[in-house]
Amino acid sequence: MPADQSQQDPKVQVEAARKAFEQEFERFARFTGGAAPAATLSLEEAETEQRALEDLRTRHFGRKSTLAACKKLIGRVPADERPAFGQLVQQIESESVARLEQAAAALNAYVERARIDHERVDVTLPGRRPRQGHLHPITLLRERIEDIFVSMGYAIEDGREIETDFYNFDALNIPQNHPARDPRDTFYVAENMLLRTHTSPVQVRTMEKMQPPVRIICPGRVFRRDPLDPTHSPMFHQVEGLLVDEGITFGDLKGTLERFHKQFFGEKTKTRLRPSFFPFVEPGAEVDVSCVFCDQAGCRVCKGTGWVEVMGAGMVHPNLYGFVKYDPEKYSGFAFGGGIDRYAILKYNINDIQLFFQNDMRFLEQF
Ligand code: FA5
Repeated sequence: MPADQSQQDPKVQVEAARKAFEQEFERFARFTGGAAPAATLSLEEAETEQRALEDLRTRHFGRKSTLAACKKLIGRVPADERPAFGQLVQQIESESVARLEQAAAALNAYVERARIDHERVDVTLPGRRPRQGHLHPITLLRERIEDIFVSMGYAIEDGREIETDFYNFDALNIPQNHPARDPRDTFYVAENMLLRTHTSPVQVRTMEKMQPPVRIICPGRVFRRDPLDPTHSPMFHQVEGLLVDEGITFGDLKGTLERFHKQFFGEKTKTRLRPSFFPFVEPGAEVDVSCVFCDQAGCRVCKGTGWVEVMGAGMVHPNLYGFVKYDPEKYSGFAFGGGIDRYAILKYNINDIQLFFQNDMRFLEQF
């Protein structure tokens, strides 16, 4: 029979439709017969098979399928052959659809099980704990310092990291020609605006907004164009202290710092004040603590002297009271400013300040 005629022959067409279905269905035959699909099929693979099977159903049994076309031919076959042909078409359809349904049911059940398996939580597995962080060592020390001063009745003030040169220098009695004002030493961000070089501006800002008695500390970041070395960083931390009241003496300053150092480093620690100059205090002093590493026997840290310098301090210069309209005849007070990072170096026996700022977890995890 010529090919074009066979195309016309309804029986041949319906047989061809069955054959085409059988051929394509072959790969799904493994899902029929009640056996579950091989467990080696992953969830993704099984879902792909599921989609392919639905696609096959549409193509072979949908409205535009060959079988649908065959059904339309029923009316065209001679009347005596019509019942038999109709039966054949229906038989082919029902057999094929039944097989397809069987495969689809097995596949759907498999996908459902695989999804549950996929989402199941194995409560016997060790949990994944989120890594717990902790405060930075400098923050830990800052809090320790705050605790000690708060216990002595001090309040904690907040300063600003970007300051005007008025508060950073002028109001602190630092003259125009002072070397610290040079852009080679200080980071200027605009004309008359800079990254504060010390926490001392908070002295004036605090006295401007409150009347004595004043008793505050202010910890915070400060910035200087200092080259990096084991004890210097261009960004570091200071803690400023300020106490103003009636009848405050240099002895109060010494006693306060002695008490603080004993609390911080241990009762054996001694504090020494050496005459020094800061334009905003008179008299001024450098403050040393007895070396905590060698018990003053002399070591690398104290460079053999038995003492380590930790802060600058002194009695508030009367000129500052002029800026804030305090009566210098009535009030007196002291101020100090210590390097928190230097305290940290001593407290933790660290040989390089940069370790604090490199964010190396192996270092930070030790605190
Ligand atoms: C001052 O900054 C004064 N404002 C301190 C002061 C306050 C004196 C109140 C009197 C009254 P000095 O420049 O010495 O002083 O710095 C104070 C401390 O900061 C030093 O003792 C040191 O511990 C620390 N320090 C200074 N430069 C650096 C740096 N580049 N890196 C780390 N720490 C530093």
